[in-house]
Amino acid sequence: MSLRPANRDQLRDALAAGDGPGAPPRHVAIIMDGNGRWAKARHLPRVMGHRKGVEAVRKVVEAAPGLGIEVLTLYAFSSENWRRPADEVSDLMGLLRHYLRTEIAELHANGIRLRFIGDTAALSDDVTLMLDQARTLTAANTKMTLVLALNYGSHDELLRVTRALAADVAAGRIAPAAIDAAAVEARLDTAGLPPPDLVIRTSGEQRLSNFLMWQAAYAELVFTDELWPDFGAASLAAAVATFSQRDRRYGGR
Ligand code: IPE
Ligand code: IPE
Ligand code: MG
Repeated sequence: MSLRPANRDQLRDALAAGDGPGAPPRHVAIIMDGNGRWAKARHLPRVMGHRKGVEAVRKVVEAAPGLGIEVLTLYAFSSENWRRPADEVSDLMGLLRHYLRTEIAELHANGIRLRFIGDTAALSDDVTLMLDQARTLTAANTKMTLVLALNYGSHDELLRVTRALAADVAAGRIAPAAIDAAAVEARLDTAGLPPPDLVIRTSGEQRLSNFLMWQAAYAELVFTDELWPDFGAASLAAAVATFSQRDRRYGGR
């Protein structure tokens, strides 16, 4: 059956009926890659690619709710991206500050709830302050949840979960035998969010690069050759359409 729900109520019914072929993804996560190559192809400095990448973020965030997406997670800066030259890291942090300063009010007006995953405590104090303010301001919004992955890496996240569990065991709050998937998930940065149904990676690379490795266990993967600055509403719709053709089995038959 091919479901083309026209509004969110129909969509919710479709989701309640299961996620067979045709159902839209509740949670889409994107590895936004290719800014550097976009700039290089135009003989421009890399930062121009990152700037253009922010424009693609705006387009995708605007288009996502209309496609029935409830949660959109964007991989903006990985825990391994600190390995880049200091000037590029500083350009990326500058763009993040600019994005937060200029977009939060409009995101809030559009009913978007903001969340952040990754070790954000390790970012500059002014950035963590802006993140806290954005989270608090938008906490009650319901149109869509936008999750920005900042200083995020699955290994780092799972190490933090492991330490938290070890501390709980040491303090007698949980028995080792009581540690189950729910206990891990409650301590992940994504606690309370549904797992990603669809992970998209741009730029032709076909790897996860340490992104949502626990959460994406049964995600459908869509790889596109498009570079992130060229990605937009139509590209997102195409990936969602591809997703809708997939038959998800979760190990069953
Ligand atoms: C993605 O583009 C942005 C971040 C990883 C922050 P890249 O900067 O990785 O672009 P390429 O992969 O070098 O083309
Ligand atoms: C993944 O892209 C991280 C983000 C998109 C933020 P990278 O460009 O850092 O990944 P690798 O190094 O090619 O695996
Ligand atoms: Mg890259």
